[in-house]
Amino acid sequence: MENFVIYNPVKVHFGKDVVSKLGKAATPLGKKALLVYGKGSVKRNGAYDQTVAALREGGVEIVEFDGIKSNPVIEDVDKAAALGRSENVDMVVAVGGGSVIDSAKYIAISIPVDHSGWEFAIGDKKPSEALPLIAVLTLAATGTEMNAVAVVQSDKEKKKVGNGHPLMFPKHSFLDPSFTRSVPENYTAYGVVDLVAHALEGWFGDGDATLTDKFILSIIREAMEYGPALMKDPENYQLRAKIMFAATMALNGLTAQGKKSGDWGTHGIGHAMSVLWDIPHGASLSIAFPAWMKLQKERIPERLIKLGEGLFGISDADETIRRLEEFFASLNSPLKISDMDAPTGPAAKEELLEVMRINKVSGFCHELSEEDHRVLVDSMM
Ligand code: NZQ
Ligand code: ZN
Repeated sequence: MENFVIYNPVKVHFGKDVVSKLGKAATPLGKKALLVYGKGSVKRNGAYDQTVAALREGGVEIVEFDGIKSNPVIEDVDKAAALGRSENVDMVVAVGGGSVIDSAKYIAISIPVDHSGWEFAIGDKKPSEALPLIAVLTLAATGTEMNAVAVVQSDKEKKKVGNGHPLMFPKHSFLDPSFTRSVPENYTAYGVVDLVAHALEGWFGDGDATLTDKFILSIIREAMEYGPALMKDPENYQLRAKIMFAATMALNGLTAQGKKSGDWGTHGIGHAMSVLWDIPHGASLSIAFPAWMKLQKERIPERLIKLGEGLFGISDADETIRRLEEFFASLNSPLKISDMDAPTGPAAKEELLEVMRINKVSGFCHELSEEDHRVLVDSMM
């Protein structure tokens, strides 16, 4: 087992109507909040109204920045930070999915400085200060609500990067599963895929951490049991709650302790697809993970066999991959790039390879060569 530190200071408020407590949490943190959200879903599902009411009740003034897009871009982070600076806000409140909360993490560390948030994202600069951040989550998927990582892209540089720092932990995260009832069918499925992918990235990380492996299997089993049920019954609060809790646990440190790190090669492949063709994050992963496992099958057979034993009671790597594909397909999440609104054919292949090269796509535990990239792209097209 590798050495590790457990540090997770996020206060998570989980359940029905928890946002009514947000004002009390916000009052000691500041007087004027930059309220960040996306393209309008939060105004239709009650999350916006409840958050604004709670902030007003807590005596907090509000400045709004909306329009954060899915697969968020650094230009919006910088615009929001500039607004926050000019309005002298002293707190950031994010209402939305991973794209909004990730943007808000960079906004909260960018307001105190005079350079682009991109320098933090690519690791050229480290934050030394952050405005306190409160997150109201409306989509179960990324785990950003309980971690210190944020992912953002630069279309100009064709890069999508994730970076993290302890200053990027939200102070409070409010998780009311009721808000996720309005998530459309496709994003509900992508969220389940994403949480399973986070658990799998942990599984394929190096290190002898058997208890962590058991946590990982439990999280995947939960998603396999309740994800398909949720697809059939999307208004069901209990199912929404189970998936939301599983997504939070899949990327808050629990699936990495005692390992060198997770692998994260598959996420790199997915990010290349997202920056190039704006493919939703979870969809990119149901395409990339089977391709990655097929590539690694001869290199790490014992990991795949153990996964199959843990999930399906079978000792066959090929059959394990097939069953995971079957699971993703049962959610209607894509298995090939051609299932999405994206170009295919030789030119598209070369374009994707170029973006993978620019992003230096590889894993922390299992390196990917340029030849591997070709095999992966062939298998995903
Ligand atoms: O923009 P709005 O109108 O809010 O619509 C969003 C968006 O179109 C909509 N939505 C969100 N909540 C909703 C809802 N629609 C109806 N009802 C609701 N309750 O859903 C769409 C997708 O939202 P988005 O935030 O993009 O999805 P997700 O939560 O999957 O976040 C994806 C981003 O997170 C990053 C991904 O790379 C991607 O950029 N990730 C962040 C991680 C982290 N910080 O730890 C780890 C992950 O691996 C991931 O990379
Ligand atoms: Zn992910």
